[in-house]
Amino acid sequence: MNVQLLIPAAGMGLRLGGAGPKALAPLEGTPLLVRTLQRFAGLRLVENAVIIVPANQRAQFNEALSAAFPGVAFILVDGGAERQQSVANGLDALLPTAEIVVIHDAARPFVSREAIQLSIAAAQSCGAATVAIPLIDTILVADEQGFLDSTPDRANLWACQTPQTFRIDAIRDAHAAAARAGYRATDDASLVRWHGGSVRIVNGSPANRKITTPEDLAYAAHLLRNNLVE
Ligand code: C5P
Repeated sequence: MNVQLLIPAAGMGLRLGGAGPKALAPLEGTPLLVRTLQRFAGLRLVENAVIIVPANQRAQFNEALSAAFPGVAFILVDGGAERQQSVANGLDALLPTAEIVVIHDAARPFVSREAIQLSIAAAQSCGAATVAIPLIDTILVADEQGFLDSTPDRANLWACQTPQTFRIDAIRDAHAAAARAGYRATDDASLVRWHGGSVRIVNGSPANRKITTPEDLAYAAHLLRNNLVE
């Protein structure tokens, strides 16, 4: 099936606290977005990738992309106020030939090739897939007074990651229904599930964590410097 990559990169990265958008923050001298895209290069998913960028920062993104991937075509799309709107804008810009879309956060530069391939295979057979890892921490559900209400069985709990990969119709229909209903979710697989679809969970890895804070960026640099990521 024809697979296209979509990268939400329009977050302003307020929690990272840098000068520019998070996706262009340097990680050991290379912008996060470039490191993330390099993970997809061996799978031939970089050409024609849809990159969702802050509306007023297209020039900076174009410059970073053409320096790192000379001659490669990208489809740049303006982001929205929230990630869900950003992804919806990106879905509108997919090529008419696309049958499967791989949605991966710019802020996860250490995704493994195996996780990408597993998510594509699962979306081909089940319609939708998300990468996730089993939870390490115990999760507590609190009541409104701040007291412990219940402790869900950790065996059924997963921490969500990306890629989240879908047959195009499944994700477009879920986004359209959510927009009509005013429903919001922080990830796309949950939208598909809310819309009645089933979503296969495939195994990610702890290294595929999202870079959010300066500490995350420092930790990512440490992993790179010490050859602790593939
Ligand atoms: O904010 P958070 O780190 O959860 O964002 C996850 C991904 O979604 C990031 O790669 C970010 O650039 C992207 N994003 C977006 N549009 C927004 C907010 C976040 O494309 N309005």
